[in-house]
Amino acid sequence: MTTPAPEAAASRAAEILSRPVTINGLTVPNRIAMAPMTRMFSPGGVPGEDVVSYYSRRAAAGVGLIVTEGTYVGHETAGLSDRVPRFHGEEQLAGWAKVAEAVHAAGGTIVPQLWHVGMVREQGNGPFPEAPAIGPSGIRLDGTEGTGKAMTQQDVDDVIAAFAKAAADAERIGFDGVELHGAHGYLIDQFLWAGTNRRTDAYGGDAVARTRFAAEVVAAVRAAVSPEFPVIFRYSQWKSDNYDARLAETPEELEAILAPLAAAGVDAFHASTRRYWLPEFEGSDLNLAGWTKKLTGKTAITVGSVGLDGGDFLNAFQGKGAELGSLDNLLDRFERDEFDLVAVGRALLQDPQWAEKVLSGRVGELAPYDAASLKTLS
Ligand SMILES: Cc1cc2nc3c(=O)[nH]c(=O)nc-3n(C[C@H](O)[C@H](O)[C@H](O)COP(=O)(O)O)c2cc1C
Repeated sequence: MTTPAPEAAASRAAEILSRPVTINGLTVPNRIAMAPMTRMFSPGGVPGEDVVSYYSRRAAAGVGLIVTEGTYVGHETAGLSDRVPRFHGEEQLAGWAKVAEAVHAAGGTIVPQLWHVGMVREQGNGPFPEAPAIGPSGIRLDGTEGTGKAMTQQDVDDVIAAFAKAAADAERIGFDGVELHGAHGYLIDQFLWAGTNRRTDAYGGDAVARTRFAAEVVAAVRAAVSPEFPVIFRYSQWKSDNYDARLAETPEELEAILAPLAAAGVDAFHASTRRYWLPEFEGSDLNLAGWTKKLTGKTAITVGSVGLDGGDFLNAFQGKGAELGSLDNLLDRFERDEFDLVAVGRALLQDPQWAEKVLSGRVGELAPYDAASLKTLS
């Protein structure tokens, strides 16, 4: 494509990203989501006033959909840290209700990311240190055996019930939907991935059998909430300690995993990649979100290094065109209808006004990313 003039590029960004989008019964006012980011600023698992203002500030500055940091479902084995907010317990849920209320008052929408870490935890840590570490086969992401325990059918049923309860609570206390954390090598992903799922019962075996646990979680969540309440499923190829790991080598393999989840009631998939512009499979420019939308027909959210390198991101505004990682590259993909929303992570930590600046074409004012922003909750 021809290189737009800077003003034209700015108004193109504003125009494309300002369009509302619906996910099941929810209308999100624009295409910018905040990616879920664990911040560990909730002692005792209770999100406090600082967490309320952290999220509502970003909603007030134009983020259409906030996906909260991962928050633990109500099972003692779910969590790694007492500073990660929990999605169970009276005080914890009261804290979350204030977050949802403040985000709504600021004009945004918000879903909690429901999380169970599985074998990323060791017995002895987390808010319930006595609880065993559990996972599909009791092995860690690197394949080693630790203190972990392979989940019994009772464990499977209890954890599924905990996800369903958390989803019902999310609706009850005023959230707009839920996101299930099925990515990055945590519990749900440990079932999906052959590296950590060595079960020989109905929850293990080929790729479709390995989706059974995830599909049961989705179905239980779907049944616990209203039909129009959005259920988002986040997944990834990569694992937190292994960026080269893959669930699917081909579109056909990916379809085998996503189809049962879509059938179980997922409304939108959040395809977690580290760089949104990288093609997922040979022979096509589509990224993982693009393939997800093409294969399932569901709403898709893309993510990965958006706006991190100010120079690359702003190429179009400097007359360089749609290079990799540029805002123009992202907008071209939106115009081709590859995906429906873009999630922004670190750039939104750095600059709470990021969405407002992009939506109003004031991209020259974006603050450059500095990793120091990971350390504060502002
Ligand atoms: C500090 C931090 C915490 C994160 N915590 C989570 C999390 O709780 N759940 C999750 O799915 N992803 C988590 N991620 C991944 C982000 O959601 C996002 O996919 C990633 O940062 C890439 O987007 P970005 O390049 O825009 O930052 C985290 C990332 C960061 C930087």
